Amino acid sequence: MCGIVGYVGKKDCTRVLLDSLSKLEYRGYDSAGVAVFENDGIKISKTKGRLAALEQKLKREGWINGHCGIGHTRWATHGEPSDINSHPHTSARVSIVHNGIIENYQRLKGFLEKKGYEFESQTDTETVAKLLDFYFDGDPIGTIGKVISEIEGSYALGIMFSELPDTVYAVRKDSPLIVGIGEDEAFIASDVPAILKYTRNYYLLDHEEIVVLKDGKASVFDKHGIPIEKELHTADWDMEAAEKGGYAHFMLKEINEQPTAVKTTISPRITDGMPDLSECGMTTEKLAAYKNIFVVACGTAMHAGLVGKYVIEQLARVPVAVEVASEFRYRNPILSDGDLVIVVSQSGETADTLEALRMSKRLGADTLAIVNVKGSSIAREADMVLYTHAGPEISVASTKAYMVQIAVFYLVAFELAYAKQAISEEECRRLTAALAAVPELINVVLQQAEQCKYIASKLVNASNLLYIGRGLDYALSMEGSLKLKEISYIHSESYAAGELKHGTISLVTGSMPVIAVATQRELFDKTVSNVKEVKARGAKVIFVTHAYKTVESDVADFKIALPTTDDILMPIPAVVPLQLIAYYTSVLRGNDVDKPRNLAKSVTVE
Ligand code: G6P
Repeated sequence: MCGIVGYVGKKDCTRVLLDSLSKLEYRGYDSAGVAVFENDGIKISKTKGRLAALEQKLKREGWINGHCGIGHTRWATHGEPSDINSHPHTSARVSIVHNGIIENYQRLKGFLEKKGYEFESQTDTETVAKLLDFYFDGDPIGTIGKVISEIEGSYALGIMFSELPDTVYAVRKDSPLIVGIGEDEAFIASDVPAILKYTRNYYLLDHEEIVVLKDGKASVFDKHGIPIEKELHTADWDMEAAEKGGYAHFMLKEINEQPTAVKTTISPRITDGMPDLSECGMTTEKLAAYKNIFVVACGTAMHAGLVGKYVIEQLARVPVAVEVASEFRYRNPILSDGDLVIVVSQSGETADTLEALRMSKRLGADTLAIVNVKGSSIAREADMVLYTHAGPEISVASTKAYMVQIAVFYLVAFELAYAKQAISEEECRRLTAALAAVPELINVVLQQAEQCKYIASKLVNASNLLYIGRGLDYALSMEGSLKLKEISYIHSESYAAGELKHGTISLVTGSMPVIAVATQRELFDKTVSNVKEVKARGAKVIFVTHAYKTVESDVADFKIALPTTDDILMPIPAVVPLQLIAYYTSVLRGNDVDKPRNLAKSVTVE
């Protein structure tokens, strides 16, 4: 995680770096720092804490005036958050910022110590600063080439050599980095929002490519110094999309953007009333041939996969295994030619998901990526890509990305079920039309924000919570529970409603609220019985179900009434109140909603 930026141009560099870093704080925010050329020497300011602390420090101790520099916002991996461990890290002739992990840093550090280098931080990054110094012979690209052939792991590095004024170098492998191209100015950044205030044009840097920012321009080379022509990309969303737009938090804005995000994601993939995934090279024939499907992802994206599993298995009768990427990649999974691996990722950069994708390709499976960020590593490496058009998601807790991921799973399930002749064309059309209508349902649920806020006020002092449901409602409960944990810091668990009595019900007392989701009509009575069991033990119950269902007072204390659609599509409206309850609980507890403690949005380390 961590965010890195770099700038070369005519503007006040320190200002540009701080502004750009503020758009990357979602990647980590336990410390921040900048290094800027001032009168041909490199000056550094860095501190533990948020970016605001760095800005205060700069104002207090002296602004660094220059036109070329690098900056960093950190999510600690090696070494606690502290001033010393903050980036930039330095050696006599080099200053660097780094996103990623240098896996062999201990060995390199031992080697450098023998050569007389002294280390002050606990970070892996400092080793790279010293190694660059060790190899530096006046040829920056040659030096970087030597260093990257020695370091193992993942990195996006912004580098400045004190003997080469007003120039920024950068290189990446397995950590994201883009190169922004403005008028007489150039940037490096971990993600596009960082440069949007200045330009929408950018290059995507490939593995081991080296970029040089100098005289307001960017030139790209391979590690042997051979120039490379890069394709210029233009961001299709602007600053406004990356700003809060009047909402108190990005999370609330993103929850409210869900109707549009779903519409934008599904409408281009419906042709004449039928799902159409041909844009990514997925044909009906190809789909029909798959025998097994694996969905591999992390966090919320994995939860979207759980909804996908239920829907695909129910409609298409193809077995789907959902796997946490960090487990999947190390357990030698049984994959073969006739299998499809679907990787799901908002950022497209999650280290474990990316490695799981690479492994699946090596084992001969076809790979399909459901990804939000264009040109991200996962999008580039998968055999087929279906982009979710959610626009930038800034809040660490994912909401609209989850929503569009499940929307894509519905399209995949409908087309697959039709391809397998498990549903008729008529049924496929009916389901596709119902999916096209769901944005309106989301709008209806969004009107209930006040009620969710009221429910949050009843949960705010709880220490533990349970989410229960059956089938699709169980899959949804997992996401509801994760959302609450992430941002409110209240411990919660999700449980299959029928499994509760096999142990966990012993925890239920009057101080353990239960959120029960019951949208699957076939299972409704069963879930109600389970809810009565917790109610009988004193739990306060929040019951999420169809508006028309009557819920007796011996079942629920509060009812959240959902608009009705086909049962299989109910996760779409049903997840919204779970998101809103988590959001308001976090707000009422006074937490930093968009930047919850210890978390980062893009997890580029394993
Ligand atoms: C982090 C984020 C989660 C996200 C997960 C997977 O843990 O905090 O919100 O679900 O990574 O991220 P991805 O970008 O692969 O969807």
